[in-house]
Amino acid sequence: MEIKITILPSGGQITAFCGERLLDALARAKYLIPASCGGKGTCGKCKVKLLRGKVDNAEVDKDGYILSCKALVKEDITIYLLNQLGSGLTQFEEIQMDGEKIGIGVALDIGTTTIGACLIDLKNGKTLKKISSLNPQAVYGADVLSRIKACSEGKLSLLQKLIIDETKRIILQLEPNEKISELYVGANTTMLHLFLGVDPTAIGVYPFTPAFTCERNFTGKELGLPVERVKLLPSASAYVGSDVTVGVLSCLNYGGNNTLFVDMGTNGEIALSYNGQIYATSTAAGPTLEGACIECGMGGVSGAIDKVFVKEGNLEFTTIDNALPIGICGSGLIDLITFLKKEQIIDETGAFDDLSSSRFLSQLKEDKFYITDDIYLSQKDIRQFQLAKSAISAGMETLLLENDVKIEEIDKVFVAGGLGYFMNVQNACEVGLLPKYLKDKAIAVGNSCLSGIKLCLLQQNQLYKVNEIAKSIKIIELSFSKVFQDKYVENMMFE
Ligand code: FES
Repeated sequence: MEIKITILPSGGQITAFCGERLLDALARAKYLIPASCGGKGTCGKCKVKLLRGKVDNAEVDKDGYILSCKALVKEDITIYLLNQLGSGLTQFEEIQMDGEKIGIGVALDIGTTTIGACLIDLKNGKTLKKISSLNPQAVYGADVLSRIKACSEGKLSLLQKLIIDETKRIILQLEPNEKISELYVGANTTMLHLFLGVDPTAIGVYPFTPAFTCERNFTGKELGLPVERVKLLPSASAYVGSDVTVGVLSCLNYGGNNTLFVDMGTNGEIALSYNGQIYATSTAAGPTLEGACIECGMGGVSGAIDKVFVKEGNLEFTTIDNALPIGICGSGLIDLITFLKKEQIIDETGAFDDLSSSRFLSQLKEDKFYITDDIYLSQKDIRQFQLAKSAISAGMETLLLENDVKIEEIDKVFVAGGLGYFMNVQNACEVGLLPKYLKDKAIAVGNSCLSGIKLCLLQQNQLYKVNEIAKSIKIIELSFSKVFQDKYVENMMFE
């Protein structure tokens, strides 16, 4: 029996199987709802308003909301969608370089949350078109561990189909005027496994062994893609994927003797280049900086509060696209916490201080600091932020300490990723996400994965270099590092 689901405010209608999970029915019809906890029922991000009809297995709260990850549909219903995932931004610094081939190629960066792609003229190196979209696997959890868990529950082929279908859609949207000769893919190691339909389960458990890390080559036909050849760029380990190896490759073009590379995504990936040797690690920062574990958090899409500042004595903010504010994204979160710290509305432990003399204290109500009538930062959100910032800064310090490198020896730090591109670096240093010493040495490089893939597409020697990087990187494992554990506890506080 088919069930009809009417969706407001779009007025669209989709069908579900009797007893199907509402979140799955919506995902099949390309309504992508955030599902940060992967359907455990703990994050509350997947809630929708039930306007008509009944569902099984999910309680309706006092405002009429249900968790779509729990609700099973058994009769026709009408729902109101609050919050759909929107596609992120794909900004990166273009490195000008001629190509050695003819035809057109596609660079594809498969992030856990966002996918970025560019169409490239392989002869003159020009980027003809760039687009970004959301990884449709996001309905199975915000981080790689949730996706791995979904695979262990029999969803591997479904996850592969989702990403292959999305790649086909992206290729169509890039509107190539001839057949694409080469598609190069960079991603974290788990996403690469899912792209090929290879079981990533061993990545999720000690000793974290991926089924492959080396470069892989296929015909488009073998993967069901409308391109001649597909190349998956090489990773270095289970948690240092080809997104890092190509990112490091692209940053070599900025020079610098001793440099740090940090990508503040769901996995905080950090690489240290020192005296010609590259060391790398990955730290579980979680999706907080992408807004996922924050009560009013959201990704960097239309309507997200992306900057918070004091102007003429008033607390002000901007939103992406100047749209009405509907939540707060990573860069806004960093600014807001910097403000709360400066105003001493939070103390060095991160706790709200009801006795602060700040004139903004009236915006603090029941352990929530309100920035609009309904967008706030809670005490729990601040704790989540502390966990994320501590994971990244402790990862960075451990990498330096384990290799006997002093922070003063670092001459550049490349901050990769969408958040890195838009955040206020001074504020990131102020809240301890980056060491203060590096505040004048930080260079935001945006999507370094895409720029590195592009280099590999254009020149054979770049492809050779990335393979060398992947083979020679020394991986520093943080799980059992005493230094990391100590630094993690230490960095939890605000200075
Ligand atoms: S509560 Fe439904 S996905 Fe987290």
